[in-house]
Amino acid sequence: MRQLWIVWTLGILTLQECFTGTEYNGVIILEITPQNEKEVQCLQNILQSWLLDIWKPLQPENINVKATVRVRIPSTALQLVKEDLLHCSQSLEILIDNVKHIAGNKTETKETRSKKSITEYNYTTYHPMNEIYDWMNEIAKNHSDLVTQHLLGLTYESRPMQYLKISQPSVRHKKIVWIDCGIHAREWIAPAFCQWFVKEIVQNYQNDQRIRKILQSLDIYVLPVLNIDGYIYSWTKERLWRKNRSQYGNGTCYGVDLNRNFNVSWCTHRSSTNCSSNSFCGSSPVSEPETRAVVEFVESRQSDIVCFLTIHSYSQLILTPNGYSAGLSRNYNESLKVAQMAASAMEKTHGTKYRAGPFSKLLYEASGTSQDWVHDLGIDFSFTLELRDNGSHKFTLPEDQIQPTCEETMAGVMTIIKYVNDKYFPNKAPSTVFDCSINILIFNTVLQFSVLFS
Ligand SMILES: *[C@@H]1O[C@H](CO)[C@@H](O)[C@H](O)[C@H]1NC(C)=O
Ligand SMILES: *[C@@H]1O[C@H](CO)[C@@H](O)[C@H](O)[C@H]1NC(C)=O
Ligand SMILES: *[C@@H]1O[C@H](CO)[C@@H](O)[C@H](O)[C@H]1NC(C)=O
Ligand SMILES: *[C@@H]1O[C@H](CO)[C@@H](O)[C@H](O)[C@H]1NC(C)=O
Ligand SMILES: *[C@@H]1O[C@H](CO)[C@@H](O)[C@H](O)[C@H]1NC(C)=O
Ligand SMILES: *[C@@H]1O[C@H](CO)[C@@H](O)[C@H](O)[C@H]1NC(C)=O
Ligand SMILES: *[C@@H]1O[C@H](CO)[C@@H](O)[C@H](O)[C@H]1NC(C)=O
Ligand SMILES: *[C@@H]1O[C@H](CO)[C@@H](O)[C@H](O)[C@H]1NC(C)=O
Repeated sequence: MRQLWIVWTLGILTLQECFTGTEYNGVIILEITPQNEKEVQCLQNILQSWLLDIWKPLQPENINVKATVRVRIPSTALQLVKEDLLHCSQSLEILIDNVKHIAGNKTETKETRSKKSITEYNYTTYHPMNEIYDWMNEIAKNHSDLVTQHLLGLTYESRPMQYLKISQPSVRHKKIVWIDCGIHAREWIAPAFCQWFVKEIVQNYQNDQRIRKILQSLDIYVLPVLNIDGYIYSWTKERLWRKNRSQYGNGTCYGVDLNRNFNVSWCTHRSSTNCSSNSFCGSSPVSEPETRAVVEFVESRQSDIVCFLTIHSYSQLILTPNGYSAGLSRNYNESLKVAQMAASAMEKTHGTKYRAGPFSKLLYEASGTSQDWVHDLGIDFSFTLELRDNGSHKFTLPEDQIQPTCEETMAGVMTIIKYVNDKYFPNKAPSTVFDCSINILIFNTVLQFSVLFS
């Protein structure tokens, strides 16, 4: 009876989360490291039956001996869950006891912004991180049919890296498009674009045939701010900060250029081993927690990811791989064609010129970029987008350019996604309305029969 009650209570909690979107108010993350196969199985059983949000690895099947498992648990369920998990393994630790507290550590300028949640979110202004966290909560809550929020990892300063998954419910096995923004702190237009992108999708997907068609086969994962610590630092201390905030040299210098920290020709081209440098590549490949979080995700979904976009500023470029050699990348001709199509769609929007070409030719040589690491894994469509401007304002793009920049970038990004969708899912025309009505038909029939025969 007690068992039943526990399961029932947790069921309600899970459902509640479902309906209200994910809130990190009093949420706890537990870390458990199973020591043997028996503990692994025990954990798998418990986590599966409770439908808890497993943060690492992404699927219970991938839990392994001696590999740390992280699970997010509503604080109200802590006692019950903890008790049962302790039956599995003694190696249980409470990693963060209140994510909201850490996420919202209000060191940021909040001043005149306290009224915001009543008014509409303003997409044509730059937002500090605490507002972006709130925005993520709200957009997931407001559009729970389409958008869910998930944890990717923790930053160096223990802030949760959250991403939004845009996914239309479907029985199909879908492929993934990844978009990250803000790997470099000072490039504020990038997070602004990620937010704009999500807004556009949720506002238009019901009426826009192109978006509907894409979402039939593709889920889109958006990480609005990758380098959260650095972003906050750029708001509070140093507007032009680029890197993360890890400490090196006995605290004499800070920060790794996260886009030099991936494991691809690491630290060989235009990267520095001097931790004061803006292109410091880190102490080893994937030394940084932010990089590691992205790598773990991409590796775990490697066979599903069909397109990887990383958004930067400035220079107005659509870059194909690679940065670490003058050689052309695997599917260069096709990548270039797609990049050119995107650049042309972007130019059509407001007349802004974007150039398309290989990273090392159009920008500079650079090794250890996420784009190249992902491409080397076998993901063909991997692009870096450098948004406005062309050098007049550089990283401090005026707010009155947020809207036109986002509009043209939207056109470019949708061009790329459409190309990828058409390539991987040619001639898939059936509309979801059709799928849906079939489902409803079956459901009704079953319902009628069950009523008849009950
Ligand atoms: C958040 O604020 C608390 C209290 O001011 C402080 O103890 C803690 O170190 C801060 N955490 C971070 C990650 O800044
Ligand atoms: C969520 O919905 C509320 C109520 O309609 C609205 O005021 C708010 O602006 C929405 N938030 C976002 C981020 O769309
Ligand atoms: C949004 O922010 C921009 C830039 O600060 C401002 O010009 C605009 O009036 C704001 N829009 C609304 C609706 O508040
Ligand atoms: C860091 O400080 C310790 C103790 O002050 C010293 O022994 C060590 O050599 C220093 N390391 C570096 C890299 O400066
Ligand atoms: C980096 O890649 C090399 C070669 O593929 C591999 O041997 C090494 O283990 C990788 N390092 C990390 C930290 O992933
Ligand atoms: C590291 O870079 C800083 C800043 O550019 C410079 O002042 C310093 O001399 C460099 N240190 C070494 C050992 O090159
Ligand atoms: C790529 O395009 C160039 C020039 O159009 C052509 O010479 C080359 O054969 C193409 N490469 C591949 C692999 O199709
Ligand atoms: C940048 O763009 C502006 C407006 O399109 C143009 O007037 C200016 O000449 C461009 N500057 C450079 C360096 O290309």
